[in-house]
Amino acid sequence: MNVIDIIDKKRNNEELTKEELSFVFNGYLNKEVKDYQMSSLLMAICINGMTDQEVFDLTDIFINSGEVLDLSEIEGVKVDKHSTGGVGDKTTLIVAPIVASLGIIVPKMSGRGLGLTGGTIDKLESIPGFRVALTKEEFMKELKEIGMVVSSQTEKLVPLDKVIYALRDVSGTVNSIPLIAVSIMSKKIASGADKILIDIKCGDGALIKDERSAKELKDLMIRIGNNYEKEVRCLISDMNVPLGVCVGNALEVAEAAELLDGKVRNNLYDLCVDIASNMVSMGKNISIIDARDEVIDAINSKKALEKFNQFITYQGGRLDDMRISDNKVEIKSNKKGIITDIDALIVSKVSNALGSGRTTIEDKINYEVGVFLNKQIGDTVDIGDTLCTLYYDKMEDNFNISEAFTIEEKE
Ligand code: URA
Repeated sequence: MNVIDIIDKKRNNEELTKEELSFVFNGYLNKEVKDYQMSSLLMAICINGMTDQEVFDLTDIFINSGEVLDLSEIEGVKVDKHSTGGVGDKTTLIVAPIVASLGIIVPKMSGRGLGLTGGTIDKLESIPGFRVALTKEEFMKELKEIGMVVSSQTEKLVPLDKVIYALRDVSGTVNSIPLIAVSIMSKKIASGADKILIDIKCGDGALIKDERSAKELKDLMIRIGNNYEKEVRCLISDMNVPLGVCVGNALEVAEAAELLDGKVRNNLYDLCVDIASNMVSMGKNISIIDARDEVIDAINSKKALEKFNQFITYQGGRLDDMRISDNKVEIKSNKKGIITDIDALIVSKVSNALGSGRTTIEDKINYEVGVFLNKQIGDTVDIGDTLCTLYYDKMEDNFNISEAFTIEEKE
């Protein structure tokens, strides 16, 4: 087999065999195929797409590039979740304890943030003492003892995704529906859960910008799941405005705890209830309506908050020691009116500029900084009202964050 012939074939929009896909992708993992050859094939895939058979074959190649977790020794239904990443997305921190508090096993491996979206692992690391890197034995023990775990992904799980994702990131080939579907579903299937809930973010602040692509990704991921006899449900959720009122690592952990304490009712609350209800409905084989009642009760009764605290403590975290920067500045409105939009992309850029995110994987992040939205969509504002608060370490300018707010003026 010859790499160039395979690239030519895909460029001519012909279907590749599993052997051909394996030859190039595994060749890349083994450093026999060059970056420029792999990027060229990825671009041909981006332009010409993939057939379902190619997607199923490539998912299999990805999964088999590393180890597959066997969770069969853990009793009960295991339900995993994944989000395609959004601004202020701390849903895992909220949903996993809710679902686990209702008796469903939640084995969750999460990632770090890169670019404009934050990662669950970074948020958890803002809690002093919290351990994200667990051995397989520790992962299984925690699942058995408390019914949930959130850890960083092991190096052994789908190593092919790691190298291909890094190359996609720098070769303009991230936005391919089949490549996104393969990347997500291979990791979810290798993580060993029985059922999977995927939250596809759609909007300006997300990887997927339009409803049509979100729907296409949803259908493809469900078909991949079916191919492995796994029940997969997908939600498509808005990512034009930030989720909740906090963007930044420690701020988001604090917001998650507040929500579980029954103190938050906003778009974050609604989405968490939706995700958790679908996971409980799958896990217990009950209707969404019944699952929703259980989810709301888990929040109101503080059962989910107890599970959250138990999980943080189990992994060594000391929530009381978590710090948010003492340096803060309030950004005031120079208009009077009603807030009709808050641009997620601008908020995330400002939060990143303050130090809460990274642009390369080596960047160090500052857990204590970020943005708190004092006003939300639908709120009325007067001139001089605080729109948001920036928590900073070093303030170089005010990053024009007021541009994130669209205010319809009224007299
Ligand atoms: N999340 C992933 O894990 N992979 C992608 O390709 C995109 C989002």
